[in-house]
Amino acid sequence: MDIIGLKDKNLYFIGGIVRDELLKRESIDIDLTYNGNAVEFAHSIKNAEILQINEPFGTVKIKLNNKEIDIASTRSEIYPKKGHLPIIKKIACSLKEDVMRRDFTINALAKSTLTGEIIDYTGGLEDLKNKKIRVLHNNSFIDDPTRILRALKFSVRFGFELDEHTKKLQNEYLKNINYDISYKRLQKELKETLTSWKAFERFVNEGIYKLVSPIDFKLPKFPIKNSKNWIVYLGLLPDISNIPLTKKEKKIVEEYNNLKNIKLDSDFEIYKSLSNISKESIIMYSTINPKIVERFNQIKEIKISLNGEDLQNFGIKPSEKYQQCFDFILKRKLKNPSLSKSEEISIAKEFFEI
Ligand code: CTP
Repeated sequence: MDIIGLKDKNLYFIGGIVRDELLKRESIDIDLTYNGNAVEFAHSIKNAEILQINEPFGTVKIKLNNKEIDIASTRSEIYPKKGHLPIIKKIACSLKEDVMRRDFTINALAKSTLTGEIIDYTGGLEDLKNKKIRVLHNNSFIDDPTRILRALKFSVRFGFELDEHTKKLQNEYLKNINYDISYKRLQKELKETLTSWKAFERFVNEGIYKLVSPIDFKLPKFPIKNSKNWIVYLGLLPDISNIPLTKKEKKIVEEYNNLKNIKLDSDFEIYKSLSNISKESIIMYSTINPKIVERFNQIKEIKISLNGEDLQNFGIKPSEKYQQCFDFILKRKLKNPSLSKSEEISIAKEFFEI
């Protein structure tokens, strides 16, 4: 892992990057921990460009050999308010203390930049080998319930299982959830976890969805096949009002909820109701009524050729009658998609009785 050309006896690769290298997977972030003051250390690196410093956290982002690298000072943390961001207990603590604040054994491995030695205080190597996700202590989910989602995320991503005790702690927590939690943090993990139906299925069947809201929910009958977008899964829940959403995400969920409550009996109704809404809300609707979505996909390209200008050319003044006329033609065209423009004109004349 000599990807950064940095060697120091106090500098370690830490967390995901070590795990991913052992799993022979690509890692997105380069995370290092410095046993001491990372900011001072960063300033001493030749040719490093300092991009960002977070003094209170003792973290620094640098650019070196065209790579962005995060270096954190070793730190220990405590959770005075369960479910919220931890606060720092000590900066420049020992590597072992730093590792013990982390979520799972597989994420608590360090690798010396100097010798390449793997430092494993928690049994992470064994768990990687046995494909297990294991918390480091019994309060892990109580301190930080977002870890329940992280466990699911890693489990789906790597095909790992939660170890028995971790599973028991998860179930205990889910029976007694503290809803005074940071929903912003929860949202971040929801986004990264709900990226497949497989993950969503477990999210629902294992009761993890209760972190979002206690209202009972059953897995819809029809799966979503091809979406990595978290909102199409999360939006299926009956109450997601706690989760911060963008305007666009809110609109998707609203469109889906509207669609759920209307009856669509004809091609015309299907066409009109599904034409001007987001593809995401249609994907969501397919979990309730895939036949209707299938029908929509068959007819959605049908368009009438006649336009307002044509009607004006017949001397018809613009009014709400225009739309009624277009709909009148559309109804016919949905039954007979091969209608030509001149046939549409005849239908328009029939409509206006001219
Ligand atoms: N961590 C934690 N508890 C959390 C979030 C993170 O203990 N709620 C720790 C883990 O040790 C993790 C490290 O912080 O390895 C970095 O977090 P993050 O970048 O989210 O995790 P990665 O393991 O790098 O995951 P990914 O591969 O998805 O980036």
